[in-house]
Amino acid sequence: MWFTFSLVYILVSATSSFSYGFNVESLPTMVAKEIADIFCENELKKYGMEKNTQFMDLCRGAPIPFLHGVEGFKRGLEHCKENFKCHRWNCTTDEDHGFKLFGTGMARASRESAIMIAMTSAGIVEHVTNQYDSGKRDRVRVSRDDCIKINSRRPRHPEEYVSVHDCNADVVKGEIQAQKMMTTWIQGLKANEKEMKMNEHNAAVGRMAVRVNMRKICKCVGLSGACNARLCFQRMKQLDVSTKWLRHRYDNAQKVQASKRAKRDGTRPLVTVERSATPAKDDLIYLLNSPNYCNYDTSTGSLGTKGRFCNRCGNGVGSCDQLCCGRGHQEYQVTRTKACNCSLVEFQMDCQQCEEKLVMYRCK
Ligand SMILES: *[C@@H]1O[C@H](CO)[C@@H](O)[C@H](O)[C@H]1NC(C)=O
Ligand SMILES: *[C@@H]1O[C@H](CO)[C@@H](O)[C@H](O)[C@H]1NC(C)=O
Repeated sequence: MWFTFSLVYILVSATSSFSYGFNVESLPTMVAKEIADIFCENELKKYGMEKNTQFMDLCRGAPIPFLHGVEGFKRGLEHCKENFKCHRWNCTTDEDHGFKLFGTGMARASRESAIMIAMTSAGIVEHVTNQYDSGKRDRVRVSRDDCIKINSRRPRHPEEYVSVHDCNADVVKGEIQAQKMMTTWIQGLKANEKEMKMNEHNAAVGRMAVRVNMRKICKCVGLSGACNARLCFQRMKQLDVSTKWLRHRYDNAQKVQASKRAKRDGTRPLVTVERSATPAKDDLIYLLNSPNYCNYDTSTGSLGTKGRFCNRCGNGVGSCDQLCCGRGHQEYQVTRTKACNCSLVEFQMDCQQCEEKLVMYRCK
C-alpha cells in the first residue's frame, strides 16, 4: 500500500511542481528522499541496475528527467536497430546473455560502439527536450497558437518579432541530461583512457546531431499576407533526421589513436591515424577495427548471423551471400492467410480468405 501510494505521490508532486523534475523542497526532506529511493530502485531494477550507485544517485537527484532519459535511450536504440537491420551487426543487444540497458553488449572501441553511443545520446537529448517543453507549455497553458502572440516590445531586428511566450525548444535541458547519463555509463565501462575519450567524443557528436538539426519556424505577422514582419522560434526535427545524420557519419568514421606527443598534463589526445590531426567535432571516431560479426563471440561483442533472414537475390547488404558469411542458407516455407478476391456486394466489401505460400531464407 505504502509503495503504491508513494509512487503516485512522487509523480503528482513532480508534475505539478514548477521546477522540472522532482520538487524535493515541497516535501519534508526525509520523506522526499525515501520516496525517491524507492522509486529509483524500482526503476533501475527493471534493467538490473539497482546496485549501480552512480545511476542510483543520478536518478535520486531528479527522478523524472532520469526516467525520460531512459526512455530516450531506448528510442535511440530503436533507431539504431532500424538503421542497421540488414547488416551483419544490427545493433541488437544481447539480452539473453546478460545485456542490460546501459550494459556493454557491443564490440568495444569499434565504429559500431561509436554509432550506438551517438544514437542513444541523441535519443536522450530529443526525448528529454520534448518532454520538458511540453511540460512547460502545459504548466503555463500555452497552446501552439499562443506561440505567435507578439511581444509588444520593440523587436531586436526590425522585421523579426518575439513571442510573448518562450516557444523555443530548450535543447540545453536535454543535452545536460544526456551528458550526465552517458558520462555515468561511460565511466562505468572501466575502459582505458583512450576508449573513455573516444566514447565521450562520440556521445558529444550524438548530442550535436540534435542541435544541428534544429529548425527555425517563422510565421508571417502584420498586414495581411504581406509578410513584412516575422515571428520565429526554434523547433526540433524528428529524431529520424538526427539519426540519419549520424548514420552518414558512421560511414565516414575516423580511426584514431593516442597522439605520440603528450600534452603538458601528461595526457595524450586522440589524433586521426591518417593525418595525425585532431578529429573534427562532428566526426564519429573509433580505435579498433571491427570484427566481421559472422560468428557468435562474446569476447568481441559479436552476436553472429546464424538464423538471420536474408535476401536470396542480389549480393549487397542484406543478401544471403553477404549476411551468411559463406555458410549458406536454408529455405523456409511459410504460409499465411490474407484477404483476397474482394468484391463490392451491396456496398460492402466481400472477401475470401486465401492461403499464401512464402519462401524465406535464413542463414545457416
Ligand atoms: C539482429 O541480429 C540478431 C543476432 O544475429 C538476431 O537475433 C535478430 O533477429 C536480428 N534482428 C533483426 C531485426 O533482423
Ligand atoms: C478468386 O475467384 C476466382 C473466380 O471466382 C477463382 O477462380 C479463384 O480461385 C479465386 N481465388 C482464390 C485464391 O480463391
